This record gives sequence, structure tokens and C-alpha cells, in this order.
Amino acid sequence: MLETTVLREVWKVARDVKAFRFKRKVGFNAGQFIMLWLPGVGEKPFSLADGDTIVVKRIGPFTSRLFNLEPGSRVWFRGPYGRGFKPRGRKVALIAGGIGIPPLYALAKQNRDRFEEVTLIYGARSVDELALMDVADYVDEVVVTTDDGSAGRRGFPTDVLAERRDEFDQVYACGPEPMLKAVLRVMDYQNVQVSAERYMKCGIGVCGSCNLGKWLVCRDGPVFEGPALKGVL
Ligand SMILES: Cc1cc2nc3c(=O)[nH]c(=O)nc-3n(C[C@H](O)[C@H](O)[C@H](O)COP(=O)(O)OP(=O)(O)OC[C@H]3O[C@@H](n4cnc5c(N)ncnc54)[C@H](O)[C@@H]3O)c2cc1C
Ligand code: FES
Repeated sequence: MLETTVLREVWKVARDVKAFRFKRKVGFNAGQFIMLWLPGVGEKPFSLADGDTIVVKRIGPFTSRLFNLEPGSRVWFRGPYGRGFKPRGRKVALIAGGIGIPPLYALAKQNRDRFEEVTLIYGARSVDELALMDVADYVDEVVVTTDDGSAGRRGFPTDVLAERRDEFDQVYACGPEPMLKAVLRVMDYQNVQVSAERYMKCGIGVCGSCNLGKWLVCRDGPVFEGPALKGVL
């Protein structure tokens, strides 16, 4: 069912990344997404960073239109949809790449009291693309990597995971597909949950456009347990 709300706040998080806070707050599990609709441009999926907040990178027509909206603008949405992360483990690592941070931000915030120790390993191309927001308030340690070495350690978040994997009993990841594949391989598909991304149209398992091997990302994901992705990613 299409619902409506109004933008309450918009702020810049990083280069070409903005956070959008709505007047309405929805209940959700970290990892779930909404289908946001803007008249004339269509509908696109976005992970919830909070019950009333999404964090978006401008890449094409839909996100460019969204970036032009100001507080007071009306938007429409369906959801939350999909399967979120299953909070599990005591010493956990969150592996985020680029704009993969919103669902992991939500996971850390929703499970502050459940996890014993949370390490966020966050990779971006360069310092001006770091979209950390106030995530440090919800995790115990933040390790930053950048491709060009302009902040934190030069390299990829998976380099750090490969060195420290034995410290963690559960790993959660969201980011570009090559990063997800590397995370799955480092973890040997065990004790890992990843949020996958595919082009979505209906968001509810009808159109088939979000096909990922035998799965539909909108219905069976976007969060998958490692073993379910063996032979798929
Ligand atoms: C479950 C889920 C959660 C998401 N959460 C977020 C989020 O929190 N924040 C965020 O910023 N984005 C998120 N996204 C991605 C977001 O939906 C896209 O960035 C959005 O569709 C962009 O729309 P656009 O019209 O601006 O750009 P588009 O025109 O749709 O895309 C821009 C560019 O990407 C290319 N492209 C689009 N789809 C594909 C594809 N399937 N394969 C290869 N290339 C493609 C296009 O050719 C174009 O060059 C999420 C996606 C999914 C599936
Ligand atoms: S987006 Fe239509 S089946 Fe997933």
C-alpha cells in the first residue's frame, strides 16, 4: 500500500550523499528497505538507516530528483519490505563499503545492548566519500580504509577483515558486489550475513527483475546468510 509523508530534514553527509529524514517513522528490522516513489520519476529501493531516515548517494535520475527536494516536500513510499539482518553473535564486525553503511548503521543502533563488542570496518574511495554519520556513537571501534589512502588505512575493508576474522563470531556486510564476494570468501561463507543489491521494480517478489541465482533479492533478501549464497555470489 502506498503511504505518504513529508520531508522533515535534509543534510549533507558526504560528497554526493545526503540524509533525508521524514515526518513519519516506521517500525523495521535493520536491513529492510522501502520503495520510495516520486511522481514523474518512479520508484526506487532504499535501506532504512532509521525508522524515519534514509541516506542516499546521487547517481542517476531518481536520486538527482530526490536531492532537489527540500524540507516540506511530500514523498510516497511502500514497505518496509524484505528480510533484515538476524542479530547474532557477541563480538561482531560490520563491513561497509561506500553507500552500504545505512543498514549497518541501523543494525548497530538497534542492537547496542545485544552485541558485546562491535567493530565497524568501513571503506570508501576517498576521504570526502566517507559517510559515517554519528555511527561511532553505536559501535566500539571504527576502522576506516580508503582506496587512495586519504583517510585511515590505504586499501579495502576486506584486507582488515582477512587479518582479523578470528576475532569475530558474526560478520555483517553491505556494499559493492566485489566487496561482498570478497567478504564471503574471507569468511568461507560461514558466520556471515550480507545485504545484496539488485535492480528492483515491484519490491514484493512479483516482477522477477531482482533475480540473484535461485533467489529474489526483494523477497528472499536483501539480507542473505552466507551459505545461501554459495555458488550464487
Ligand atoms: C535493497 C536495496 C537497498 C538500497 N539502499 C540504498 C541506500 O540506502 N542508499 C542509496 O543511495 N542507494 C540504495 N540502493 C540503491 C538505489 O536503489 C539506487 O542507487 C537507485 O536505484 C538509483 O536510482 P537512480 O534513478 O538515481 O539511478 P539509476 O539510473 O537507476 O542508476 C544509475 C546508474 O546505475 C546503473 N544501474 C542501475 N541499476 C543497475 C543494475 N542493476 N546493474 C548495473 N547497473 C545498474 C544505471 O545504468 C546508471 O548508470 C539500494 C538498492 C537496493 C536494491
Ligand atoms: S523487484 Fe520484482 S521480484 Fe523483486
